[in-house]
Amino acid sequence: MDIIQIKGGNFLEGEINISGSKNASLPMIIASLLTEDKIKIRNIPNLSDVFTLLKLIKSLGSEFELINEDNSTYKLIIQTKKIKSNIAPYDLVRKMRASFWVLAPLILRYGEAKVSLPGGCAIGTRPINFYLSILKKMGALIKIKDGYVKASIKNNLKPINYKLDFPSVGVTHFFLMISSLIEGESIIRNAAIEPEIISLAEMLNKMGAKIKGYGTSKIVIKGCSKLKGTDITIPSDRIEAGTFALAVTATGGKLKLKSINIKEIEALKNVLQNTDVEIKSLENSIEIIKKNGVIHPIDIETKPYPGFPTDLQAQFMALMAYSNGKSKIKETIFENRFMHVQELVRMGGDISLAGNTAIIKGKKDCLHSAPVMATDLRASASLVLAGLVARGETKIDRIYHIDRGYERIEEKLNSLGANIERVNA
Ligand code: EPU
Repeated sequence: MDIIQIKGGNFLEGEINISGSKNASLPMIIASLLTEDKIKIRNIPNLSDVFTLLKLIKSLGSEFELINEDNSTYKLIIQTKKIKSNIAPYDLVRKMRASFWVLAPLILRYGEAKVSLPGGCAIGTRPINFYLSILKKMGALIKIKDGYVKASIKNNLKPINYKLDFPSVGVTHFFLMISSLIEGESIIRNAAIEPEIISLAEMLNKMGAKIKGYGTSKIVIKGCSKLKGTDITIPSDRIEAGTFALAVTATGGKLKLKSINIKEIEALKNVLQNTDVEIKSLENSIEIIKKNGVIHPIDIETKPYPGFPTDLQAQFMALMAYSNGKSKIKETIFENRFMHVQELVRMGGDISLAGNTAIIKGKKDCLHSAPVMATDLRASASLVLAGLVARGETKIDRIYHIDRGYERIEEKLNSLGANIERVNA
């Protein structure tokens, strides 16, 4: 199995291109199943989550061609003339929870679907109660049996006016997809407003739905009986951009992140500016300059967009472990997203947990090499960040987690001056 080895201590300097967004790609690929027409999706990132999803949708009847546009990104030409299977098996849904969203096209186009319950994961229990309550209100019959959700419809699903208890990203995606093919007006309130929701809504509109209000907490969807093909581009990955911005803040240096708009990482920008980092917004790119080695401790709390993203919490903790003082990080989105804490402690971080808050007693140069284990995607990124500044050589095991969401991370970091390699151990 591959591991990552990092010799810490190098500055990061140079420029990189930010890849297509994982969390925008997944719902957009699933939305292609809503039509029998051809869909072109450009700037698909080369990530294992994308390939897991493609494997699943192939088994459902999609035919596709992946065209390598440069050395990493792909253009996906996909068509699902007919849904041939209505089953999303445990094996694939367990690997990647977003697979659960195929329930929307399956029930709409096949009339019934059998989709594995996703189960818990390393960051929390992640229930599916909102999805089920929406489907029931729309008129679907739901049974949970043998670890599967079995959903079926007798008559057409009906449009509903639904208020989410929490602005869930996945549930908002699901609602947009399903309502786009229900004739009449559906409304979702307290909807998520993440940029990925906007991307999906724009795609569905190009396919023929009439969605208004996306990007705000009330979205109104006028669905239709048939959606058509389209040609769409995946936006850049704001979490990858944020991870690199945190990396250069830790190591010092100067980095230009291309193909990303500063607005998408506004919350991180505001926090980083308090650690004495210069962040410049250029045309469709960002420059981050960290001249001195002083990192001020800052308290943060994760929040839905536009708040500080939970997907950057672990990476930010690695930075705070290396800061010159005490800080607190409160995780409010997922109850168990702290698996990286013990690994950072093994590398010398002084971090303790009190409920959903981590207390970090930062100390410059406290991080040192250790064999550590990645437990989930963002946790593995936090270990890479820690390794970049740690004394000695850090070895990170189970790095398949990082390949789920970071495209060629070691290549990108090496091009910026880091000393990092992937080895088969
Ligand atoms: N929730 C419920 N019931 C539901 C659905 C969600 O209680 O039926 C709760 C969750 O348990 C959680 C909260 O709502 O406490 C928010 O979860 P959300 O549904 O927004 O998360 P998600 O859609 O499953 C997406 C991203 C995550 C990201 C979160 C929050 C994708 C593929 N995944 O997950 O990304 O952390 O939104 O922004 O878009 C990652 O990329 O590392 C990642 C985990």
